[in-house]
Amino acid sequence: MLVDTHAHVQVHQFGSDRPAVIAAAFADGVARMIVPGIDLETSRAALALATAYPGRIFAAIGTHPHDVKTMTPETLAAQRELANAPGVVAIGEIGLDYYRDLSPRDTQREALIAQVALARDLDLPIILHNRESHEDLVALLRAHGAGVRGVFHCFLGDQRMARDALDLGYFLSFAGPLTFPRNVVLGEVAAWAPADRILIETDSPYLAPQPFRGKRNEPRHVALVARKLAELRGLPVEEIAAITARNAAALFRLPASAPAIGQR
Ligand code: NI
Repeated sequence: MLVDTHAHVQVHQFGSDRPAVIAAAFADGVARMIVPGIDLETSRAALALATAYPGRIFAAIGTHPHDVKTMTPETLAAQRELANAPGVVAIGEIGLDYYRDLSPRDTQREALIAQVALARDLDLPIILHNRESHEDLVALLRAHGAGVRGVFHCFLGDQRMARDALDLGYFLSFAGPLTFPRNVVLGEVAAWAPADRILIETDSPYLAPQPFRGKRNEPRHVALVARKLAELRGLPVEEIAAITARNAAALFRLPASAPAIGQR
């Protein structure tokens, strides 16, 4: 059983074939997926999918650092209301992005602090985006993240950065880039990370793993991330699937077992 812990299947890239993409993932062994919002609209759409596929799709509610420049106090209040709904298992996707800098950095930090506080209030884990912003993110979590748990999504760092995340109690989630050739440092981190802190994801529709690199990514491709992680750790892929599914259930407090396909 595979769990794709990060798949934006609610976005427009899946507008023409979303039910088929979801069905293909379930048919290919993806038992569950977590769908993070990037703004209010996509958070609502994530919740709608969680409502349509109970026990199989779970939602995360959040505003991505790219979009926090549009956030208002009303946005945060609306997120709080959405996050109380059944099927919501996390606050995300939230974080910092100093690579594209689509929102001012001080706005990014303020919005992250507010959303971390929301996660603490609601006792939900956070799904973190972190690009060229590692030092600030870690400092911010140390200062404002007490009592909050979560995951560094699409982890791309080195062992020192991984240790920062692990020391704070966070999980590391590996995505398509793990399968790219020459990603030696990332492969070493994935082989070394503690077994009880690793997750897998696709970040669909982005970052498709080999051999689909450059194409639209889909949740069923999480099997390729699992296969690479299994190879790096010298374990059968079934064992990696079981370990990462168990970790996802623990972090996101998912119900014990997924209902059979077609069951509502
Ligand atoms: Ni994402």
